Amino acid sequence: MVKEKLALLGGTPIIDKEPPKELFKWPIITKEDEEAALEVIRSGNFSGTDISMQFEKEFAQWIGTKHALVFCNGTQALAAAMFAVGLGAGDEIICTTKTYWASITPSLIFGATPVFCNVDENLSMDPDDIERCITPKTKALMVVHYCAYPCDMDRIMAIAKKHNLIVIEDVSHAQGGYYKGKRLGTFGHVAAMSLMSEKSFAIGEGGMFVTNETYMYERAVAYGHYERNNEKFLSENEDIKKFYGLPLGGVKARLNQVSAAIGRVQLKYYDERCAEIDEAMNYFWDILEEIPGIRAIRTEKGSGSTMAGWYACKGVYDAEAFGGLPIKKFCEAVRAEMSNTAGVYAGANYCLHTHKLFTELDFRNAGKPSSIEYLETSSYHGAENCDESIIDNSFSVPMFKRNYREWLEKYAQCFKKVAENYEQLLGEVSVQDTQGGRWFGSVD
Ligand SMILES: Cc1ncc(COP(=O)(O)O)c(C=O)c1O
Repeated sequence: MVKEKLALLGGTPIIDKEPPKELFKWPIITKEDEEAALEVIRSGNFSGTDISMQFEKEFAQWIGTKHALVFCNGTQALAAAMFAVGLGAGDEIICTTKTYWASITPSLIFGATPVFCNVDENLSMDPDDIERCITPKTKALMVVHYCAYPCDMDRIMAIAKKHNLIVIEDVSHAQGGYYKGKRLGTFGHVAAMSLMSEKSFAIGEGGMFVTNETYMYERAVAYGHYERNNEKFLSENEDIKKFYGLPLGGVKARLNQVSAAIGRVQLKYYDERCAEIDEAMNYFWDILEEIPGIRAIRTEKGSGSTMAGWYACKGVYDAEAFGGLPIKKFCEAVRAEMSNTAGVYAGANYCLHTHKLFTELDFRNAGKPSSIEYLETSSYHGAENCDESIIDNSFSVPMFKRNYREWLEKYAQCFKKVAENYEQLLGEVSVQDTQGGRWFGSVD
């Protein structure tokens, strides 16, 4: 092994010029997207629903559910999903502590209690920790396929069945991914996902709700699509029918038609673009496979489970393999090798159970925290036995969109160089790493 001076210490960086812009450019916008958007702009039909409905039909066919329903964002789609399954006052809903806030925060609107469980070594809902969180009040599981890695749906669905729980999937990081040959979003009773511009499936701002359950679909329509809450669009469920005309959630959550039009075009090419990303990301990680102390969070080839667009994909760092070198320092050194051309930082979303929103916020001025407003208790129990340690061990890698082998090798080489020369950094004063330790809203 040739010892090379690390770029962070004044050595020559591995990457010293800008990569081709297509390597990271996302979403891929072509003339077809532009034409579709322009057509809406020229027609002035921004607030219609016709393009949305075409998009929904195509999306449902693609993902494999009976119904799909668009929303103005993923947060509203998740809120509608909670309403669709009847989440209400005094119910408990279990979610992983490590996720973006929108996976679970809307439950407070319904008077429900979020209960947090731990993640496993892949930052996914830990099936071994779910039963600890179940009480007679538990109604639902919020299963987040975090950072594109599919949760262990065999075990999760078995637990849900045993305890008669509703399953909601949050597919915001994994649109189009598979678990053992079946699309994510088709396991639970309902699923919801963000389609915002940074996501794998990116249409500007938007959300999607999917389900095979017609009654739940109709509740989701009634929740936030007042213009469709009528006899023209819905069957005659008595408990919805009497409220025709107004949105049951008191929100206006329809998608603008520019995003819907772009979504239709994106859908046509999405799987083939994800296939290229999959090849690129696997190639990159294959090169790093031999480095002790670094592990990719990725699905096994040939398992039928996939990472779709590898959104915010993560690696796990074992500081012991690097003489105790802090992960932030390691990432800082890798970034220096890349001349900061790609995002490599330590950490991910902070664990939600540590936030006062759940332990203290009295949203309805009820005299007690909203998270327990309808429970006969005075203190919040939903964060018991939750662990934060895993956050210290994960790091992000560049999200490659193109299978440009030469560049993938160069980026992998940046990690390899630091891994092989880490001793140079031991004893270095740790500088403030401004890109690490992200706040609760990050990795959205
Ligand atoms: C896991 C997860 N759930 C839900 C959302 C909310 O989606 P949106 O931002 O489209 O409202 C996001 C991100 O934005 C997310 O990352």
